[in-house]
Amino acid sequence: MNIPKRYTITSALPYANGPIHIGHLAGAYLPADIYARYLRLQNRDLVFICGSDEHGAPITLRAKQEGVSPQEIVDKYHIQMKETFEKFGISFDIFHRTSAPLHHETAQEFFLDLYKKGAFIEKETEQFYDEEFQQFLADRYIKGVCPKCQNPDAYGDQCEKCGSTINALDLKEPISVLSGKTPVLKKTTHWYLPLDRDEAWLKDWIFKGILDGKEQHDPKLWKKNVMGQVGSWLQDGLQARAITRDLSWGVDVPAEIPNSENKKLYVWLDAPIGYISATKQLALDGKIENWEKYWQDEETALIHFIGKDNIVFHTIIFPSILKAKGSYILPSNVPGNEFMNLEGDKISTSRNWAIWVHELVEEHPSKIDAFRFVLCANIPETKDSEFTWTDFQARVNNELVAAFGNFVNRIMVLNHKYYNGLVPYHEEEFLKIKEECFDIVKDAKQKIGSLIENYKFREALDAFMQVARDANKFLTSKEPWKTAKTKPEETQAVLYASLQIVANLATITQVFMPNAAKSIFNILGIDALQWEDISRLDLLTPGHQLKENHLIFEKIEDDFVQAQIEKLHSTKKIETSKYPKMKEEIQFDDFAKIDIRIGTIVAAKKVEKADKLLELSVDMGFETRTIISGIALHFSPEEVVGKQVQVLVNLAPRKMRGVESQGMILFAEDLEGKLHFVSPQSGLENGSSVS
Ligand code: 2FM
Ligand code: ZN
Repeated sequence: MNIPKRYTITSALPYANGPIHIGHLAGAYLPADIYARYLRLQNRDLVFICGSDEHGAPITLRAKQEGVSPQEIVDKYHIQMKETFEKFGISFDIFHRTSAPLHHETAQEFFLDLYKKGAFIEKETEQFYDEEFQQFLADRYIKGVCPKCQNPDAYGDQCEKCGSTINALDLKEPISVLSGKTPVLKKTTHWYLPLDRDEAWLKDWIFKGILDGKEQHDPKLWKKNVMGQVGSWLQDGLQARAITRDLSWGVDVPAEIPNSENKKLYVWLDAPIGYISATKQLALDGKIENWEKYWQDEETALIHFIGKDNIVFHTIIFPSILKAKGSYILPSNVPGNEFMNLEGDKISTSRNWAIWVHELVEEHPSKIDAFRFVLCANIPETKDSEFTWTDFQARVNNELVAAFGNFVNRIMVLNHKYYNGLVPYHEEEFLKIKEECFDIVKDAKQKIGSLIENYKFREALDAFMQVARDANKFLTSKEPWKTAKTKPEETQAVLYASLQIVANLATITQVFMPNAAKSIFNILGIDALQWEDISRLDLLTPGHQLKENHLIFEKIEDDFVQAQIEKLHSTKKIETSKYPKMKEEIQFDDFAKIDIRIGTIVAAKKVEKADKLLELSVDMGFETRTIISGIALHFSPEEVVGKQVQVLVNLAPRKMRGVESQGMILFAEDLEGKLHFVSPQSGLENGSSVS
């Protein structure tokens, strides 16, 4: 496939109802930034677009909770996110916003045009309505019991406990988040995108790369995780999707359309159009000549960087809209990433289990490139990944500092020491080691470039680090600190060659760690180089004056790591609602009446005609008891034999299904409802008492 003439690179527009965390960065912003920086280093024509997604029910809900207007919420987070991205070095050409009038106009113009083209169908359905607040309820405004896992706190669109997508009408015991009352069902009319009509061309386009009979992209270059998700959507069959809502906040359905009062565009319809309005703003700002060529010229490659929860919107829904609108290009690729976890747990805003980037850039400005390095090494490209503070420390100290930082520092120190910072040279000796040195950098330009172009950022970073590791090996084998006096010419050649490698490293790392690159160019005393300069060994001329040296990276100390882990745990919010309610207080005497002993299950069988019951024989040391336990749905008889357990032995005997149960075995039920034996950690003598 030909090299595109220009690129439109987008990163998912983050919702303006909360700050950005490192999972967002690793999923949608850092990879896109590396990609954009790489293309810029080749002077390719591109726009790198982002902005805040300022509509949708979560924003109005948050405003309600905080007692402020939705505009106040989005203003606050728009500014915070824009500043944070800038400080973290995410090099958007524009960070626009969907509450901007230009965006509302653009989205309305799209909607009206599609409406006129007959791209929508109108349907009347019943939806939940809060009579007290006199408004229809967006899915996020309805809570109830999840039909799949019985979680009592599921939302009208999704259950956060089991992860299933929910149809609000299927929620059990629905209540309105606004009034806390049971909502009623009321009829309402909305516009739908009949996606079933698009199935055939979508399949050809996605899986064969063919659009309107022309080759448009190479499906082999689309990531497996993305293809897998799109594949299962298309296999299940597409259905019409509502693209308007009864809401007070959002883009108005154009007034020209009959029955449009109080109707807003569905946030997922207007948000991706936000990429287009942002590009229009760039043109208005005079940063590009015109916006149309970035969206309507077939020689432009449109690339959407997103997280996995956004895949369907960028591969099916937005392309359907663009195709229906006509004259727009469709994405050449949608490099969607999986999620990043934190210290063994899912990143969660509600539990405040996150590393917030606005805090990170304020508290650790000197470590931004170290974060970029570790996050890039952990981009969840093919599966969910994990950030831990100890891994952060290990990667920074053992890789970044030990291989890259150390090499640069050693070369600078030696050059200042032996040659007063003037680039040395000795042709004859250099020719002897040229091949060996060239081997270190010769593949870098092509290899790292092609990995980046294929969205393999982790491998690209590793290939870069391989250059640093090889450079260190070279230096260690030559030992110029030992040969300076005995073989001065060889030493000059070795340090000349090593300086060229430093310049190579600085050039490559502009895409990964732009601050470090800048510092290295500064100490080398040269202007930033271009991608085409990589793999050359003549980037610094003999006699050139190097600048004063300083360390590029700092080591991460143990107490830093400790403090970060403590901060994470101490600021974590406990979701009290998911824990069982505490029982009423009792006195010690009440507790003292309970007699719990250790016993071992020696035999088990199912109780006939009782699905849930097992009949167990438990060796209590002083006697063997028969106990009926309601655990048959959790454990088979074979699984439980041999288990040491805790038994409430002074519970009055009870007849169940004709058998007398002489006590009760204790179990712990985890928060997912799974039963676990509460066995002693090491074997105890049966009959031992628990208190
Ligand atoms: O998932 C999200 O955070 C959405 N706000 C992403 C929108 S991407 C685009 F379509 F604007
Ligand atoms: Zn559920």
